[in-house]
Amino acid sequence: MPFSEEFLEELNRRNDIVDVVSAYVPLTKRSGSNRFGLCPFHGEKTPSFSVNADRQIYHCFGCGKGGNVINFIMEIENLSFPDAVQFLARRAGMEVPQDDYDPNRGKRARMLELNREAARFFHDRLMEPGGAPGQAYAEKRGIVPMVTRFGLGYAPDSWQALTDAMTKKGFTRQELIDAGLARVGKSGGLYDYFRGRLMFPVIDVRGSVIGFSGRILSDGEPKYLNSPDTLVYSKSRSLFALNLAKKSKSGYILLAEGNIDVVSLHQAGFDSAVASLGTSLTPDQARLISRYTQQVVIAYDADAAGQKAAQRAIGILQPLDLKIKVLKIPGAKDPDEFIQQNGPTAFKNLIERSDSQAVYRLEQLAEGYDLTADDGRVGYLKAAAKLVASFPGSVEREIYGIRAAEKAGVSKEAFLAEVARVRRQNAAAAKKRLDRDNSSPLRAAQPQARELRFENVRSAVAEEGVLNLLCRFPELFGSLPLTGADFTSPSLGRLYDAVAARVRQGRSVSTAALAEQFSPEEMALLAKILQRDEIPASAADQAMGDYINKIRTERDKASAGDDLRSYAEKLKQTKGYGP
Ligand code: UTP
Ligand code: MN
Repeated sequence: MPFSEEFLEELNRRNDIVDVVSAYVPLTKRSGSNRFGLCPFHGEKTPSFSVNADRQIYHCFGCGKGGNVINFIMEIENLSFPDAVQFLARRAGMEVPQDDYDPNRGKRARMLELNREAARFFHDRLMEPGGAPGQAYAEKRGIVPMVTRFGLGYAPDSWQALTDAMTKKGFTRQELIDAGLARVGKSGGLYDYFRGRLMFPVIDVRGSVIGFSGRILSDGEPKYLNSPDTLVYSKSRSLFALNLAKKSKSGYILLAEGNIDVVSLHQAGFDSAVASLGTSLTPDQARLISRYTQQVVIAYDADAAGQKAAQRAIGILQPLDLKIKVLKIPGAKDPDEFIQQNGPTAFKNLIERSDSQAVYRLEQLAEGYDLTADDGRVGYLKAAAKLVASFPGSVEREIYGIRAAEKAGVSKEAFLAEVARVRRQNAAAAKKRLDRDNSSPLRAAQPQARELRFENVRSAVAEEGVLNLLCRFPELFGSLPLTGADFTSPSLGRLYDAVAARVRQGRSVSTAALAEQFSPEEMALLAKILQRDEIPASAADQAMGDYINKIRTERDKASAGDDLRSYAEKLKQTKGYGP
């Protein structure tokens, strides 16, 4: 086990889950040892995200996420288990025992070194006379002044330039392949992956070169070539130029589609521009953005694809409680072209006049209806009321409600009444969901937990009960006449074995060490089970006895069934007949 249990437990003690979570989520409501807030992992308006100070766990009744403080950091900061441990150790000012906690650490460090050398190589090639094709292209795009800031480079149009140079520096064949910089040709030799391209290094917020995008200098295909995902590079979790944008004082992040847009925006003074890397915006990227800003201005391409992507991006950014504005770029295909044509001041005006996502979405919605016809207006009214009802603030609802009413040609009273109706309906549905969740943990199994569900619901209720009582009152149950093999749910069985072993040895049942052995889904299931506290200590003994009996009865019923089945099987074989 890479980390010692003592270390993990100390880490847990020094990072109280209430403190840690509070830095991300205001925990506004309180009931017993539970505190509630709005879940950071899914969009919601009434708090169903709970943190339990006694048990040091969190659990969301809405989306099913849950676990201990390490799981929380893994989820919200997008980190692996060892990285989340590092993160919390730093937060608590603890030394991490360095007995190579990460088996890939050495490899990772080498790959970053190789990437840095490669970036330097590409940059040097651009700056020398041989880099004329790259220089000419940068000039044509008007981005020469940005070459240094972005560390732009030129990949020579040759099969082995980079491979040879890096081999000379001592990097191995396998290292070049793993980093996505070289590939194996038919003859078994290596060839450079990037050739004859303007190179954009992708640099993470710590300043490491983690990958590359290369733009072709002519009209060929593909326009951009991107590094594959590697040990150090995950495209869906990285943003181009975030290393620069994170230092911006502008108060917002400008989200563009293209690398060239980003470079061009920075050159025009918009130093908070970033782009996702050849994919549409992912939830991980959105979360990354929300760590650096509270406002996002979407500046996607003007074409239909860009507008569709903007709608999707709004949906992904909205749960993160960011203020979102959407730019419309008139008379140009993208921010780069607009700035080249009209200059920075005109772009600044676009930002200042950009619509909030609310107006933008209402307008996009209106485009789908014929507002000159009655049924078109009714359709728009219904859809717009639904949209307005989803805005969290009452002032927002009032203001945009009035706008939408005008558009649909109805009175603002009628429109706002419709909004109120939708909100009542939503609230009733949410309450029903919550009640169901609280009264029956099993039936409300969340998507993530679905594969952890059980054949036998009666037994599983008891299995959950055993785990709950054992974790909450370990001092009452030194050793129980049960093993995980008696459980119908393999996940619950494994969790039980791990917890029971600790109780038997008189160790604490901290969930910290469990996070290393169990998947986030299993930890979420455990958190959900531990969240319940209707059985008090005084009734624990009695309840435990009932649960154990129930598990045994169900097990015996099942094995009796097996016996019957195998008896029937035998009959069929020996006598040639059977059921
Ligand atoms: P664009 O085609 O809009 O790129 O694609 P651009 O940067 O604006 O390029 P110019 O202005 O035409 O030169 C947007 C982004 O999509 C990804 C790249 O990240 C690009 O910046 N992309 C595009 C690819 O990954 N591969 C491609 O073949 C094309
Ligand atoms: Mn473009």
